Amino acid sequence: MKTVIVGITGGIAAYKSAQLVSDLMKKDLDVYVLMTEHAKEFIAPLTFASLTHHPVYGLFDTDQHGKIMHIELAKKADAFLIAPATANVIAKIVHGIADDMLTTTFLAATCPKLIAPAMNTHMYENPVTQNNLALCKQLGYRVIDSSTGLLACGDVGVGKLAELSDLMEEVEQALWSDHCLQGKRLVVTAGATQEALDPVRYLTNHSTGKMGFAIAKMAKRCGAEVTLIAAPNHLPPIKGVNYVPVVSALDMLEVVRTYQNQADIIVKAAAVADYRPKEVAQEKIKKETGTPEITLERNPDILKEISLNRPFPQVICGFAMETEHVMEHAKEKFEKKQVDFLVVNNLREEGAGFGVDSNRVSILSKDKVEDLKLMSKEEVGYELCKRFAKRLEEFSC
Ligand code: C5P
Repeated sequence: MKTVIVGITGGIAAYKSAQLVSDLMKKDLDVYVLMTEHAKEFIAPLTFASLTHHPVYGLFDTDQHGKIMHIELAKKADAFLIAPATANVIAKIVHGIADDMLTTTFLAATCPKLIAPAMNTHMYENPVTQNNLALCKQLGYRVIDSSTGLLACGDVGVGKLAELSDLMEEVEQALWSDHCLQGKRLVVTAGATQEALDPVRYLTNHSTGKMGFAIAKMAKRCGAEVTLIAAPNHLPPIKGVNYVPVVSALDMLEVVRTYQNQADIIVKAAAVADYRPKEVAQEKIKKETGTPEITLERNPDILKEISLNRPFPQVICGFAMETEHVMEHAKEKFEKKQVDFLVVNNLREEGAGFGVDSNRVSILSKDKVEDLKLMSKEEVGYELCKRFAKRLEEFSC
């Protein structure tokens, strides 16, 4: 189990840290909270002791073996996040001041360190603070920029604590140690395309885009430069990923073609409509004109097209969702589309399919079929990234 230290300093945003710590605990992490004396004015240490099941240690506290806790925690930590970080504490840590438990442990820790500033706009914009933040970056600390909005003091401006979901993602990224796709460019498509019938209606399917988003997230964690080409969806954006929205299969084809020359890996996780209405009515189709007959025409098979027209050796991965004769159809598809990997999911299987966070897939490649166990979509994404990295290595052999 990985250990995360959350340092909390004396700003009003300290109240948000309780939710952050609770969210981190749900990720199966061992979390310790260290607080400045001013932070304890805003929120009680008992809140964090109850959430983390560890006391909020003070300077010179020892464990039951008499070991000094600031050194023990510094050794144990896999990531150290200060959120919120006040201007005062930022100034201290960049100048090696260690006059309390938080700053002393921070100075002793050698793990990745993250700073999430939160303060009044004028304090934030003060060149002294800006210089100190620049120093943080020079020292290798990850600064998670404050956002802009209405601050507790009533001012509107920059200085709000970053979103908790961004802080979570940054911590997870810091804990992540596999950089198998470092320097590689990965393009992934996600979601269900929409094929217009008229300005109001369209044909689509049940895909939510979760699998494609999970691949984008894990590829980024593995060090890849990621472009996510997504059909309309309701998923939260992924920080640090180049997001390109599209609507129809034809839009998607055009965008994928544009990015094909800049990709080492292309993953087609989108559920692309195989057909689109031949005519798109300019005005809303009125029921008074009788039951319409809708003629469909084939959409291009994007996966097949990019796979057969690779500008240089590229890893191409397709997805197949089947409801019957799953493996038989998948093998046919693998041959027809000439991909490196085909990820097969059976819609009828429990925990797999649309809208859920888990998947149970089989991965077809040239010489094998691998049946993976039921796992989260993010874990499936990671399993794929490892295989993409291996395949790219084979190209250079
Ligand atoms: O042939 P089928 O649609 O079942 O194949 C699924 C795979 O092909 C998916 O990777 C999907 O993104 C891709 N596909 C495509 N263009 C289409 C239809 C499917 O790229 N028109």
